[in-house]
Amino acid sequence: MARFSSMMKLVSLLCLIFVAPLAASATIVRYKFNVETQSVTRLCNTKTMLTVNGQYPGPTIYVHEGDNLIVEVNNNGPYNVTLHWHGVRQLKSCWADGPAYITQCPITPGNKFIHNFTITGQEGTLWWHAHITYLRATVHGALVILPRAGKDYPFPKPDAEIPIILGEWWNANVEDVLADAVRTGGVPNDSDAYTINGQPGDFYPCSKNDTTRILVEHGKTYLLRIVSAAVVIPHFFKIAQHTMTVVGVDGVYTKPYTTDVLVMHPGNTMDVLITAKQVSGLYYIAIRAYNTDPTSNGFLTTTTSAILQYKCSSNTSDPVLPSLPGYNDTTTAFKFKTSLRNLKPSVPKTVDEEMFITEGVGVVSCPNNSCAGYNGGRVVGSFNNVSLIMPDIAILQAYYFGIKGVFTRDFPNNPSLAYDYTGNVPLGLWQPELATKVKVLKFNSNVQIVFQDTAIVAIEEHPIHLHGHNFYVVGQGFGNYNPKTDPPSFNLVDPVMMNTLGVPAGGWAAIRFTANNPGVWLMHCHLESHSAFGFAMVFITKNGPSKSDKLPSPPPDLPKC
Ligand SMILES: *[C@@H]1O[C@H](CO)[C@@H](O)[C@H](O)[C@H]1NC(C)=O
Ligand SMILES: *[C@@H]1O[C@H](CO)[C@@H](O)[C@H](O)[C@H]1NC(C)=O
Ligand SMILES: *[C@@H]1O[C@H](CO)[C@@H](O)[C@H](O)[C@H]1NC(C)=O
Ligand SMILES: *[C@@H]1O[C@H](CO)[C@@H](O)[C@H](O)[C@H]1NC(C)=O
Ligand SMILES: *[C@@H]1O[C@H](CO)[C@@H](O)[C@H](O)[C@H]1NC(C)=O
Ligand SMILES: *[C@@H]1O[C@H](CO)[C@@H](O)[C@H](O)[C@H]1NC(C)=O
Ligand SMILES: *[C@@H]1O[C@H](CO)[C@@H](O)[C@H](O)[C@H]1NC(C)=O
Ligand SMILES: *[C@@H]1O[C@H](CO)[C@@H](O)[C@H](O)[C@H]1NC(C)=O
Repeated sequence: MARFSSMMKLVSLLCLIFVAPLAASATIVRYKFNVETQSVTRLCNTKTMLTVNGQYPGPTIYVHEGDNLIVEVNNNGPYNVTLHWHGVRQLKSCWADGPAYITQCPITPGNKFIHNFTITGQEGTLWWHAHITYLRATVHGALVILPRAGKDYPFPKPDAEIPIILGEWWNANVEDVLADAVRTGGVPNDSDAYTINGQPGDFYPCSKNDTTRILVEHGKTYLLRIVSAAVVIPHFFKIAQHTMTVVGVDGVYTKPYTTDVLVMHPGNTMDVLITAKQVSGLYYIAIRAYNTDPTSNGFLTTTTSAILQYKCSSNTSDPVLPSLPGYNDTTTAFKFKTSLRNLKPSVPKTVDEEMFITEGVGVVSCPNNSCAGYNGGRVVGSFNNVSLIMPDIAILQAYYFGIKGVFTRDFPNNPSLAYDYTGNVPLGLWQPELATKVKVLKFNSNVQIVFQDTAIVAIEEHPIHLHGHNFYVVGQGFGNYNPKTDPPSFNLVDPVMMNTLGVPAGGWAAIRFTANNPGVWLMHCHLESHSAFGFAMVFITKNGPSKSDKLPSPPPDLPKC
């Protein structure tokens, strides 16, 4: 049961489980997750790793919009663990969000925690993953939110739906990979393979026989529910000789956008329609790195493949391979991101809280330059020159129970120093402050954030993920943001809504959202090699005036520390 490679198994599972709920009141959907070790072999290398229910990738959760989802998480493994429901708004259920030491303390080995939340006003594909150390590399799966009974998709009903999960495989234990980097201060080792539904595919050693195959029938239309569960690298995604129509991003419907390439940042999800209308045969689905960091000395340049196989076609011939964009093809990535449009936008037209936030990596100096990071320092990441130090008790716990001394409320709205952010930044500015600072937001305030990438260490496209909210991406550009000339070009009509945005390398992006969800919300770079080293910050949204606008009390089994 270690493998979960057959897509057809998934598709038939979908047909079996899903019967529409009858009642209009919230249907309760229950899952039991056993977090446990499992022996798994890839690239001729067998290792024992953490999984959910022994599956890699983990089980796909199916719910309908409006359902109450109850997931009992039993930690039967040797590590502290927490689970996060990536992109789920968690309206008034912040306690269930899951980032370790932000909304809860870890579930220690032998213990359990019941996540209890209702999925309100969201449809499409999201996902779940471990939210502590590097464990999400192996502990993750798709979360599919179907329209509630009697409601249709805003596009023609596909003939079938197929989850496609992109990931990364390390031959080593991923906890050792992180521990090495913590010890040396350097960048964690790269993965040994990229994967599609857990498989590296035809171009890796010992992998060909297990390449993921997706069977399609000529003339039929399929909804691909694509999740990037990659850990440290974004990908270009293509299917040979098939165009794709994007109809949803990050669990929010988009206007249909037809393209031959997708850009998937770790954290992103895409709902994509394809029609099998080519000559019967075999076509590769292929992914490859999108790497914008010019200083990275070597990254994994292999191509990972799955096979789109027309039924009744001979499968002995070689599949057709699509040509993928260059590793640093920022032009293609920018075009893709800026072409997406929300289907039913409702953009905040006014702004109550305006923030300008620099983001990027940095270095902390080590005695005698003895660390393995840049200039003998330790690699860290920061927002507005503040690198987040994780507290030993969860920030939500401290906030709710009024425990003092855990965090301060002075995260700055602007950098303390203005400089040429994307120019030649003097070395003296490379070391951030290390602190646990939060930004407090008034209930229902409209927030605008302009993220500014910096050239400290290197420019790079960082996927910024905000918990508990979706945001509109109202503007993006290259170079330093100009507060006078850039805002007039903002799209306040139909900008795409996301929860994870790749901010252009050496550029900026402006987002807007309404802080209508009381609680403690993490925002971080979704490259785990960065967020593990402080590339994160925290918002606290205060309660609103009415009883229904307040964060409820914690669940009785909330892990504390
Ligand atoms: C889930 O939470 C609701 C209230 O928000 C509560 O009524 C229900 O009993 C909880 N279910 C479980 C299984 O904890
Ligand atoms: C990381 O890479 C270094 C250099 O190749 C190697 O010595 C080390 O064992 C690797 N760490 C792990 C956990 O595999
Ligand atoms: C792949 O399958 C072929 C044919 O069944 C078999 O001969 C070969 O040993 C398999 N290779 C691996 C690595 O399992
Ligand atoms: C051809 O496809 C069938 C059905 O998916 C599979 O069982 C078989 O192993 C495939 N053969 C080869 C050579 O890949
Ligand atoms: C992309 O990489 C190529 C080859 O290394 C290099 O020549 C080119 O300048 C790079 N382009 C950008 C935009 O960095
Ligand atoms: C730094 O190097 C000097 C000279 O080699 C040595 O005397 C000193 O002990 C070192 N300091 C640390 C903290 O390693
Ligand atoms: C960040 O703050 C540190 C002080 O903690 C300072 O030395 C450094 O110059 C600052 N860098 C920037 C870019 O503001
Ligand atoms: C696991 O979590 C508990 C509770 O927060 C903590 O006391 C313990 O140090 C953690 N263990 C590790 C290995 O981090």
